[in-house]
Amino acid sequence: MSYNRRQFLLVTGSLCGLAVATIAHQALTRTQNTSKNPLISSSPVASPVASPKPSPAPSGLIGSPRGDVRIVVISDLNSQYGSTTYEPEVDRAIALLPDWEPDLVLCGGDMIAGQKTSLTRSQIEAMWAAFDDHVAQPLRDAGIPFGFTIGNHDGSGALAQGKLTFLSERELAQAYWTNPKHTPGLQFIDRSGFPFYYTFTQKDVFYLVWDASTHLIPPEQLTWVEKSLSSQTAQQAKMRIVIGHLPLYTVAVGRDKFGEFLANGEQLRSLLERYQVHTYVSGHHHAYYPGKKGQLELLHAGALGGGPRKLLNSNLPPTKTLTVVDIDLNSESTRYTTYDMKTLSLINIETLPRMIDTPNGRIFRRDVTEP
Ligand SMILES: [Fe+2]
Repeated sequence: MSYNRRQFLLVTGSLCGLAVATIAHQALTRTQNTSKNPLISSSPVASPVASPKPSPAPSGLIGSPRGDVRIVVISDLNSQYGSTTYEPEVDRAIALLPDWEPDLVLCGGDMIAGQKTSLTRSQIEAMWAAFDDHVAQPLRDAGIPFGFTIGNHDGSGALAQGKLTFLSERELAQAYWTNPKHTPGLQFIDRSGFPFYYTFTQKDVFYLVWDASTHLIPPEQLTWVEKSLSSQTAQQAKMRIVIGHLPLYTVAVGRDKFGEFLANGEQLRSLLERYQVHTYVSGHHHAYYPGKKGQLELLHAGALGGGPRKLLNSNLPPTKTLTVVDIDLNSESTRYTTYDMKTLSLINIETLPRMIDTPNGRIFRRDVTEP
């Protein structure tokens, strides 16, 4: 094919524009290599021919170059107790989601608005039906697998005198998720505790979901966690990611008290580090914070539904967010592109606090070098 001079200028102009946009975007989001493999250099050797990677994103939104694996992380979708409607940011996120072309959607929990003993079984069933209409069905129709963790409002594991306080909510959550019509499209490894705890794999990444719907993970489940993470399937995967509703550390105003984050966070972190888990993804705090502590990355997902919260150690207003995670398998690194779902603008990581002091110690923003 031959190009005349005008076509040549148009093509090179577009490529230059794309390159400038990509560089500007990378500077804005302060993309950094989070390689854990000491054999892989963090300063890649310049390639003589740099072909721009595709950056799928909804029309008009800034995208970032696609990784080997792309995940979209959403969380805390619900509105007030008993609600069968969702706020506009939830519907907007679900409508735009296929345009990011993710391999997987991960949800940090609180998909419906239970955790109230006065709610009837039919009210809870109506909430799951609304969730299916607004979230799960559109994703199934788009052929996008959905990994999720159960939140305190979906089916809390809270115990009173050894008995589950929200037993019927848990039964209804299980009934919804085990209905063959609602299959989340995951390649399960162990679904014996599904939907509360389970493992699956996709594109060389191993995912473990635990039941962090309360601040306590039962000891027998932790035995299962250790067995699963030490398995050959988990260890031979190129990366391991764990998902639970409550975070290991607090990041949000009003969530910095006992019961709002996992007990024994430090012990749980060393457990995850022992098996080379790359990232722990959580919800519940309704505030986006891309953190880390020790060897573990901590993706605190922001809320899309009601009640976004302010971050600790920050004056930024509460923001509803969605995060695109691009994974580079060879360097075992991740790159986040996070959108404010009200304005559809990008969150600049440098506007977030460099560190947060929590009852379990100090955590750092993921691009900050821990002293
Ligand atoms: Fe929650």
